[in-house]
Amino acid sequence: MPKILPVSYENKFSYNIIIRNSFDELLENIIKIKDQKYEKICIVTDDIVSGLYVDTIKSIFEDKFNQVIIFTLPNGENSKYLGNIEKLYEELITNHFTRRDLLVALGGGVIGDMTGFCAATYLRGIDFVQIPTTLLSQVDSSIGGKTGVDFNGYKNMVGAFYMPRLVYINTSVLKSLSEEQFCNGMGEVIKHGYIRDKAYFEMLKDHVNEVLALDDAYLEDMVYTSCDIKRNVVEIDPKEQGIRSYLNFGHTIGHAIEKNSNFSLYHGQCVAIGMVAAMYLSVKKGWMEQKDLEEMEEVLTSYHLPIRADHMTVEDVFNASKSDKKMDGNKVKFTVLKEIGVADSYMDFEEDELKEAIAYVLNLSSK
Ligand SMILES: NC(=O)c1ccc[n+]([C@@H]2O[C@H](COP(=O)([O-])OP(=O)(O)OC[C@H]3O[C@@H](n4cnc5c(N)ncnc54)[C@H](O)[C@@H]3O)[C@@H](O)[C@H]2O)c1
Repeated sequence: MPKILPVSYENKFSYNIIIRNSFDELLENIIKIKDQKYEKICIVTDDIVSGLYVDTIKSIFEDKFNQVIIFTLPNGENSKYLGNIEKLYEELITNHFTRRDLLVALGGGVIGDMTGFCAATYLRGIDFVQIPTTLLSQVDSSIGGKTGVDFNGYKNMVGAFYMPRLVYINTSVLKSLSEEQFCNGMGEVIKHGYIRDKAYFEMLKDHVNEVLALDDAYLEDMVYTSCDIKRNVVEIDPKEQGIRSYLNFGHTIGHAIEKNSNFSLYHGQCVAIGMVAAMYLSVKKGWMEQKDLEEMEEVLTSYHLPIRADHMTVEDVFNASKSDKKMDGNKVKFTVLKEIGVADSYMDFEEDELKEAIAYVLNLSSK
């Protein structure tokens, strides 16, 4: 049975997240989106996902729509720039795409963010559907309507909030991901437990073997619970004026480490290191205990996530975290834990405290 999570935006139904372990119900859910059938479909994908799933998806659509075209980009973050959005506009114009047509993002967060941004801006907005294929995109980037591209080395600098019409998650595609990419997504999954749901965190801690073995039942339940947590947060605070910032747990220092690694570390890996730094600060403030920090390091390590970074200085990471978008005035807005399952925002860390936490995860002295 599929699991269905309806997502509201500004108190009105916006789209469904469908979670299944096959593509069996994709077509009927696309047909259900609106009364008048879409005429043409453009599947946007990357050159790895294309080889794995594009034929299946194309054959599902081919008999039902007037035209199905495929737009393929090289895989990876380097593709996420405006030049490729222009190429996609050109493809859509050449094929006479109008607002009666549909874009389908088939891939990880890079493809989802770019397709969403193109959909938000082409003809001032056409419909798009997300078919996320990495764990990170299934539990995080496909939900909540953040779309965009990188600009001149700044991540996600240009973008728009634009909701998909459907998110269709087939958990079985996670079986073709490398273990490194799967564990990258686990950084965000573990974060969900920490910020919103202690029982979920305990489940992840106690069932590492089942999760890493990609056991179907565990995978579906895990993706469902994480999507439900993200959905709940983005429904309450779609534009990140309040509790959506809890999703940034581990991200302030995480992003700074990501930047200083020249993006050689993956996002979820940097979030893992950033969560350790944030937990260090929570222990320092007396909100959490040393044993919580040790437990976090053990759980992250059990999912093959890094808990330390190297080849960067405290000063560089500190400066990058100050220039992160999570700044409010001159202060770094930091998401901290008060308990497992309970996050909060804190603005009043001293520079020395932040540097000490950064030094901890760099295995350096802050002086
Ligand atoms: N919009 C948001 O709210 C949000 C949130 C978090 C991250 N993001 C963005 O998401 C992006 C990262 O997403 P990602 O980690 O999915 O990276 P990605 O899209 O680059 O995918 C990672 C790699 O996995 C490959 N891949 C994808 N699905 C596969 C599958 N099923 N089997 C085998 N290989 C597969 C891809 O080809 C790629 O090489 C970043 O650009 C980040 O900024 C956006």
